[in-house]
Amino acid sequence: MKRIIIAIDGPAASGKSTSAKLLARKLGYVYLDTGAMYRACALAAQQQQININDIQALSRLMENIRIHIQFSDHGNTIWLNDDDVSEAIREPDISRLASAISAHRVVRTKMVKLQRELGREGGVILDGRDIGTVVFPQAELKFFMIAPLKIRAQRRYLELKEKGLNPVFEDILQDLVNRDKADASRALAPLIPAEDAIEIDTGELTIAEQVEKLYRIYLEKVGS
Ligand code: CDP
Repeated sequence: MKRIIIAIDGPAASGKSTSAKLLARKLGYVYLDTGAMYRACALAAQQQQININDIQALSRLMENIRIHIQFSDHGNTIWLNDDDVSEAIREPDISRLASAISAHRVVRTKMVKLQRELGREGGVILDGRDIGTVVFPQAELKFFMIAPLKIRAQRRYLELKEKGLNPVFEDILQDLVNRDKADASRALAPLIPAEDAIEIDTGELTIAEQVEKLYRIYLEKVGS
């Protein structure tokens, strides 16, 4: 069967990565978490104390950065230079910095190039903000995931708590509002659904239902 490109876009904590990971496992596809790549850029800027609005410094950072994604059934392991940063990039301050740094052209150009190289053979599911609109506008199947703000905040709260952090619900909610607003209103590759994206509201769905829904749409589109 043809191995296609599946694009999953949507706001923060809308269920993209969980669905993408599980659907990829079911289909024998590779899952690529593009948000993790912007998060790795943010972590690198933080480690090197770079002011992300200093375009020269940011350009130098992007020239030298080495991001490597290791694929497995359990998701992506993210390597920044020679370190496994898969956990470190999930911290709330990195979420904020990822959103800010990803608005810069020099960052997006490099990351989009990498994403296209990794996805071009097909048999891949990418999740992010601009996959269906910019990275792979030719993707055969596109989803745009949404869920009510409170539910998304609750999910992120539980995720962080399970990691042993000490999240404050109101702060998480406000962070999501700020980040979605910034992501949707930026000039470059804003968070908007592609015209041919199928909207999935995950607010009332369990993870299993979510994946089943995507899988059924995939079968209708591509055949079994
Ligand atoms: O996991 P969560 O939905 O909170 O965020 P993420 O997918 O890890 O993305 C972190 C940030 O990276 C987002 O807020 C976006 O600003 C940026 N991003 C982007 O600009 N383009 C993408 N394709 C993916 C993420």
